[in-house]
Amino acid sequence: MTTGDPLIVLDGVHKWFGPLHVLDDVSLSVDRGEVVVVIGPSGSGKSTLCRAINRLEPINEGTITFDGQPLPAEGKPLAKLRSEVGMVFQSFNLFAHKTILENVTLGPVKVRKEKPAAARERGLALLDRVGIANQADKYPAQLSGGQQQRVAIARALAMQPKAMLFDEPTSALDPEMVGEVLDVMTSLARDGMTMVVVTHEMGFARHAANRVVFMADGKLVEEAAPAEFFANPRSDRAKDFLSKILTH
Ligand SMILES: Nc1ncnc2c1ncn2[C@@H]1O[C@H](COP(=O)(O)OP(=O)(O)OP(=O)(O)O)[C@@H](O)[C@H]1O
Ligand SMILES: [Mg+2]
Repeated sequence: MTTGDPLIVLDGVHKWFGPLHVLDDVSLSVDRGEVVVVIGPSGSGKSTLCRAINRLEPINEGTITFDGQPLPAEGKPLAKLRSEVGMVFQSFNLFAHKTILENVTLGPVKVRKEKPAAARERGLALLDRVGIANQADKYPAQLSGGQQQRVAIARALAMQPKAMLFDEPTSALDPEMVGEVLDVMTSLARDGMTMVVVTHEMGFARHAANRVVFMADGKLVEEAAPAEFFANPRSDRAKDFLSKILTH
């Protein structure tokens, strides 16, 4: 669902790592409720783009606004931004010595100052939503990779984010666990969450994305609705990329 109401807006964004130009004049607007899938070759800047949106990576030129405000640089406003933009990475980064439920409730209690009982109730509901309510008292190492990644999603959702960023959330998973994580993401998308998703899962892009964005060499080369993009990529770079990944 797209609303024509922008939540994340990048305008003329540039980022260099030393001499390396990793984001080269990137402009992208993501509407509230929209699901944008970002694809492109390794090193094209996809992770940097995601990290720039919640300011894990500061940019050198251009502007990024989130919900109408320029990204804050530090302090409480930055902490607020980070809680409003949930992020799920390839590695789950759960706290090993905390239970699954504690992993999910820690942020709400510490950062959002929720009452422990209320955070616990919501945490259990979120674990139920991602299909692992019965694992609440276990520790991360006792769960499969797919289950841990679903905990990571529940933990991000516990902060009541306005948007979710996913950076290759299924790349580290055994193949049989990819589906259960994509199912949770698909359901989030259907519920209207604003999502930016870096993934090689073209099935997800086809059925869950409103828009596919193709990056190469730090540039946003092409963007289109999934059906249009997969049937009719315009640039040679995108054609070449698709011919490689779709023939595996
Ligand atoms: N902290 C850093 N310092 C220096 N160079 C970096 C840093 N992070 C990323 N880069 C470089 O920036 C470029 C873009 O990296 P980025 O991780 O955004 O690419 P990507 O599209 O996510 O690639 P992949 O598909 O492999 O994850 C790469 O050339 C990478 O080596
Ligand atoms: Mg990456």
